[in-house]
Amino acid sequence: MSATNYDLKKILEHWDNEAKNFQWHRSHQTTLEGDFTGDVKIKWFKEAQTNITLNAVDRHAKTTPQKTAIIFEANHPDTPAQEISYLELSTAVNRMASVYKNLGIKKGDVICFYMGMTPELVIGVLAAARIGAIHSVVFGGFSAQSLAGRIEDSGAVCLVTNDGAYRGEKIINLKDICDEALKNCPTIQNVIVHTHTKNAHQMLSGRDHYLHELLKNSDPQFPFEIMNAEDPLFILYTSGSTGKPKGLLHTTAGYMVHAAYSFREVFDFKENDIFWCTADLGWITGHTYTTYGPLLNGGTTLIFEGIPTFPNGERFWQVIEKHKVTHFYTAPTAIRSLEALGDELPQKYKMGSLKVLGSVGEPINEEAWEWFHLNVGKGNCPIVDTWWQTETGGIMISTLANKTECVPSFATYPLQGITPILVDNTGDELKESVNEGNLCIKYPWPSMARSIWGDHERFIQTYFTTYKGCYFTGDGAKRDQLNRYRITGRVDDVINVSGHRFGTAEIEDAIDEHHDVVESAVIGYPHPIKGQGIYAFVICHHKRSDTEVLEKEIRDMVTKVIGPIAKPDLIQFVDALPKTRSGKIMRRILRKIGENELGSLGDTSTLLDPDVVNRIIKGKKN
Ligand code: WTA
Repeated sequence: MSATNYDLKKILEHWDNEAKNFQWHRSHQTTLEGDFTGDVKIKWFKEAQTNITLNAVDRHAKTTPQKTAIIFEANHPDTPAQEISYLELSTAVNRMASVYKNLGIKKGDVICFYMGMTPELVIGVLAAARIGAIHSVVFGGFSAQSLAGRIEDSGAVCLVTNDGAYRGEKIINLKDICDEALKNCPTIQNVIVHTHTKNAHQMLSGRDHYLHELLKNSDPQFPFEIMNAEDPLFILYTSGSTGKPKGLLHTTAGYMVHAAYSFREVFDFKENDIFWCTADLGWITGHTYTTYGPLLNGGTTLIFEGIPTFPNGERFWQVIEKHKVTHFYTAPTAIRSLEALGDELPQKYKMGSLKVLGSVGEPINEEAWEWFHLNVGKGNCPIVDTWWQTETGGIMISTLANKTECVPSFATYPLQGITPILVDNTGDELKESVNEGNLCIKYPWPSMARSIWGDHERFIQTYFTTYKGCYFTGDGAKRDQLNRYRITGRVDDVINVSGHRFGTAEIEDAIDEHHDVVESAVIGYPHPIKGQGIYAFVICHHKRSDTEVLEKEIRDMVTKVIGPIAKPDLIQFVDALPKTRSGKIMRRILRKIGENELGSLGDTSTLLDPDVVNRIIKGKKN
């Protein structure tokens, strides 16, 4: 049988069965409505009603009230860890839900979170879901300008933040950044401030409230809002090839079903296991596998506020030993950077509790895979290489721990109910084994994003028009003779730096805001630790001799517009860019230069000025 001979009837049966694992206020009649043609209005379990906190919190608070739901490991190793039982979590979520209601926030309102990885973030997000408000978490490393853009786009009415967040030696003054952002955000009526680092900050009377003050008037038992299956659960912004970051919209029932199912199935998670996903809640991995997946399964999830290198490069291993972590899920960048510190470090710790390791966010190279397997898993733990996206909501292609075989750098097989196909550049499906194809998904799946917030047309254009009738992921993949998938990376203008997504155009726009810059072109190039580094080719109005100062100014500009995580690694000043006669930048050529593949630049004769390529190569930075 062909690798992609999918049986939709069986797929729907599978999802129907999975839906039986939850408590519903009302059950569904229709499993799936809609497909990837026309206006792409997808509905899963459409008549169903529930609330995700009923399933992630309430039911466990009843059956296993004393069980630990969240272990909080603070930034500093000397700060005692905090354990929050399901009963305590339930009380905290109820109280927070009532705080929102007391501020007049209601179902359908958007609450934005700009916080460090503290339990209050997880509680705040769950409480939003409890009252039917839509959570929009913005990663605490984004700049004031980025935060403002996301608040403006989402129309959020409330912003929740910490006074500050610890990041290793540093304190990030989150409240100050919020104040800066809020100069341009008229929709925000209330700011809730959780006191954490106790750094100096301002409070604006009438708008800003301390969480501890609000909690004095809160209710430990607050009924959840009954949500329809397709009511929005959250928005999460992510970058694409073009334009501003887009707010992907996820809805209630389908997301819940796939988050719980994929967590259980991929990680082979058992009752007393302790799951540590290192992803911040600002990313989709933090939503699905730090928060919802483990809690929906009644598991224990560890959240960590700090960074892997504070106070030293042993911190991850120390935390695994200290909390007897059984499942450790992280990104290849983290693995590679810790590998670079030496094999001795993980060997100093007892990590026998580990049962399963996981990798996510970018392709994992074989060397990092082997190092992770031997030095962290001691050769005993399966590594699940999980491929998925903000858009997919949950894991799509992955090894299943203890069920299917791990192959270094292969995500291997799709999860049951998921239907990947590979197509060529004209959209024809490639059958059998394929060396390079464009990865698409043939049928809808429950946790897929339903829309781009406020712009459904862009949703259709971005994902469903490149290859008619299917969802295009933007990734390339190969499929071997055993039908196993290996993801090779993005085939569009998205770059993946340390597992973080950026559109090249987004970084170019930021660079172009510098008053000396005429134009720029950004590409990703292979980077030994980050996977991809950011290489910017920049044209300036006039030559400046202080190029180092200018480079710093450009990096500062990107930090201001997007955040420090998008700063270019390499900046090369050029007098022109390789453009076609119609004025289009030929990025393919720049990419080849960045990859050092100078022998395969391809045809440059169609360029307006073919010699520009030689001049760029002469000044090459890597
Ligand atoms: C990449 C993160 C190879 C891919 C969950 C995708 C991966 C993008 C893998 C989504 C993997 C994610 N192997 N590449 N196991 N997992 N990617 O939206 O390019 O932040 O399109 O979601 O990361 O990034 P996002």
